[in-house]
Amino acid sequence: MSKFLFVSDLDHTFVGDDAALIELQTHLSHHRTNYGTKIVYATGRSPVLYRQLKAEKSPIDPDALVTSVGTEIYPHDASDTPDKEWSEILSHGWNRDIIVSTLDQFSQLAPQPDSEQRPFKVSYYLSETAAATVVPQIESALAEQGLSVKLVYSGGQDLDVLPIKGNKGLAMQFLARRWGFSSDRTVACGDSGNDIALFSVGDERGIIVGNARPELVAWHQSQSSNHVYRAKAHYAAGILEGLKYFGFI
Ligand code: GLC
Ligand code: MG
Repeated sequence: MSKFLFVSDLDHTFVGDDAALIELQTHLSHHRTNYGTKIVYATGRSPVLYRQLKAEKSPIDPDALVTSVGTEIYPHDASDTPDKEWSEILSHGWNRDIIVSTLDQFSQLAPQPDSEQRPFKVSYYLSETAAATVVPQIESALAEQGLSVKLVYSGGQDLDVLPIKGNKGLAMQFLARRWGFSSDRTVACGDSGNDIALFSVGDERGIIVGNARPELVAWHQSQSSNHVYRAKAHYAAGILEGLKYFGFI
């Protein structure tokens, strides 16, 4: 056994089956203590909503915390200061005010709560039926303003506007480079649209949990990557299944 970089989404991936989560955390803690494995949570939540989940579920302490769909990296989960190098990378070509004023004209968009509006993330609710037609219109409107940003639709309700260089996958690679983990010793786990970047950014190993959302399943079916494993089991049990499949544990 040797160390690896474990990166996981939280909602409906790491969290969802309390009994399986206990077993998974036991494996991960053991690996961290004995081999130097590093544990990273990569969540769509803001730090505020992460702290709520932490209070409810008490997940083991991560070695770094990625919040707000990859746009903020914290050295540990009690830190209030995001990694400056990462913020600097994301700031190029990003203009939050122009994004907000451009998207004001789309009546189908309802802004998410203030806590989820972040320096490098603008988030709305958008129904699944409207998304198919509205997302391309939003893309054109933003391109007309000369903005090169990325739209991420997740969970049949959330639309995030992110800097082109800010997503969960690129944040994972930033930490892997910093800590010296190769792609074959890095594994990412997820269940929804904002996790696609974890699986598509490179050839890091990927685990899609059995309860994955249609948008992630459709993406997986549309391409042929053998570095991504689709588990049968759900939530943490699916992660355990995948970690065994790849031989990490
Ligand atoms: C989390 C965030 C929300 C985001 C969603 C999808 O629920 O709180 O702002 O839109 O993830 O990325
Ligand atoms: Mg999720």
